[in-house]
This record gives sequence, C-alpha cells and structure tokens, in this order.
Amino acid sequence: MKQLVTIFALIIFISACTTTQHLQPADADLFLAQQRIPGITMTDLQRGYKMYSLNCSGCHRLHDPVEYTAGQWKPILDKMFVKARLSDDRQKQLISNYLVAKSK
Ligand code: HEC
Repeated sequence: MKQLVTIFALIIFISACTTTQHLQPADADLFLAQQRIPGITMTDLQRGYKMYSLNCSGCHRLHDPVEYTAGQWKPILDKMFVKARLSDDRQKQLISNYLVAKSK
C-alpha cells in the first residue's frame, strides 16, 4: 500500500513537471527565434523564460507563447507588465523576446 502511494505521488510529480516543459526554450527554437529577433541568443531565451515564469504565473497559469501571434502579444504585454509591476526595461525586453520568439 505504501509503495502504491509513493508510485502515485511520483506520477503526479512527474506529470506536473512535464506540463510546462514545452515552454522551456530548446535548441530547436533558436533558429526561428533568430529569424524573428536577429542576434538573440540561447541565454537570452533562457533568461526570458525564467523572468516570464517568475513574474507571470502569480495570477493565472503560464500561457503558452503559441497561443498568440507576435502582434497579439504586444498589447497584452503592455497591460500585463503593469499588472506584474515590472518596470525594468531589460526584464521586459527579455520576456517579450522570449514570447515573440516562440509565438504563433
Ligand atoms: C496581478 C495579476 C496578474 C499578473 C502578475 C499577470 N497577469 Fe496576466 N492576466 C491577469 C488577469 C486578471 C487577466 C484577465 C484579463 C484582464 O484582466 O485583462 C490576465 C490575462 C492574461 C492573458 C490572456 C489575454 C488577455 O488579455 O486576456 C495573458 C496572455 C496574460 N495575462 C499574460 C501575462 C503575462 C505575460 C504576465 C507577466 C508579464 C502576466 N500575465 C502577469 C492578471 C495577471
């Protein structure tokens, strides 16, 4: 019985981890990202994802970047940066670049 509970807990834990895994930047994303944002690096994408997950998951689930086009993200971000009380331009740039790089 104890083992069963452990296995069950493990399954839940693993599935919780994998649900946001596709949001993490992968090497395969870099090519498209650089077409959209010339000069962007893997480090920029990773920092952007980190900033995004830290600042944008407090009120709702993390939205998948592919839910919107780059053009749709812009006005959403103008609104959400205010909600997240983000004022640091570099942080905003990293989040925006990450989302646009992986957008629809
Ligand atoms: C203080 C709470 C809060 C934080 C922090 C927050 N959001 Fe939101 N978000 C909302 C609410 C509330 C809505 C529902 C629509 C609205 O009120 O505009 C929303 C809706 C959205 C939507 C759906 C599109 C829309 O306009 O309805 C997206 C995408 C989104 N947020 C992205 C983000 C991103 C990116 C960040 C980080 C920069 C973020 N949110 C941080 C509260 C928050």
